[in-house]
Amino acid sequence: MNKQIITWLIFSCLIPAGNIFAGEQLGPMAVRIQQQLKSDGRDQYDVLKDPGRKPFETMQFFNVKAGTTVLDMTAGGGYNAEILSAAVGADGVVYAQNSHFVTTLIKGALHKAMRGRLENNRLPNVRYIVVDPEDMPFDESIDLAIWGLNMHDVYHRDGEAATIRFLNQIKRALKPGGILGLSEHVGISDNNNAELHRLETSIVLDLVEKAGFVTEETSDLLGNPDDDHTKSIYAEGLRYATDRILLRARKPSN
Ligand SMILES: C[S@@+](CC[C@H](N)C(=O)[O-])C[C@H]1O[C@@H](n2cnc3c(N)ncnc32)[C@H](O)[C@@H]1O
Repeated sequence: MNKQIITWLIFSCLIPAGNIFAGEQLGPMAVRIQQQLKSDGRDQYDVLKDPGRKPFETMQFFNVKAGTTVLDMTAGGGYNAEILSAAVGADGVVYAQNSHFVTTLIKGALHKAMRGRLENNRLPNVRYIVVDPEDMPFDESIDLAIWGLNMHDVYHRDGEAATIRFLNQIKRALKPGGILGLSEHVGISDNNNAELHRLETSIVLDLVEKAGFVTEETSDLLGNPDDDHTKSIYAEGLRYATDRILLRARKPSN
């Protein structure tokens, strides 16, 4: 018998019944996300993004819970909104927010992608809202907000004060003690990060703190050691696979 098969047989005997190979050891949220990844009607680009996003592990890191109300800031085409939909489950609600300005980018492609995945009530717990952050109708009603791969856009285009204002609107929406989950393409100093669409991690941490959040943890779960941070996030071979940081921060309870 082949050595690999023998090893696998020995190994699988040592694992208790309900092992991960049968998918039974996965919790209900992991199973829902796994099913969502295979569901019909996802956006055509989602599947290219999956390996670089590690959706279940990322939701776990952000501490997403079933039955909660979450906000996807600058949802873009809605990759995170779709994963959040599965993560919070039927008893949860996902608000997917795009600013008016975002809906005009790339000839409205992101707006169309977002609307496309919601057709025929495909994600019944997702509410798509086109609204600027300062006009969001949330006051301390959101359990968790995700701001994915977009802080660099706001920072490089509109500056530090505007980025803090953006974060402050997220803070206004969150319940006391609510969570901010953030992802960003890693940039290093001395590079033209505006051109590369990246941001230094020290700047991310600084802005989050200046907006009054308390950072709990950062993670290199979506790290890529092959990314030397000198190329654009759109460079061949790097797109969807950049070195990224994840950050989880909390709005203070008092
Ligand atoms: C990579 S997408 C991220 C979308 C989504 N959050 C995600 O994680 O998939 C970045 C988003 O930033 C938007 N964007 C580009 N420039 C911007 C700017 N100056 N201000 C705000 N958003 C901008 C794009 O339209 C796009 O929706």
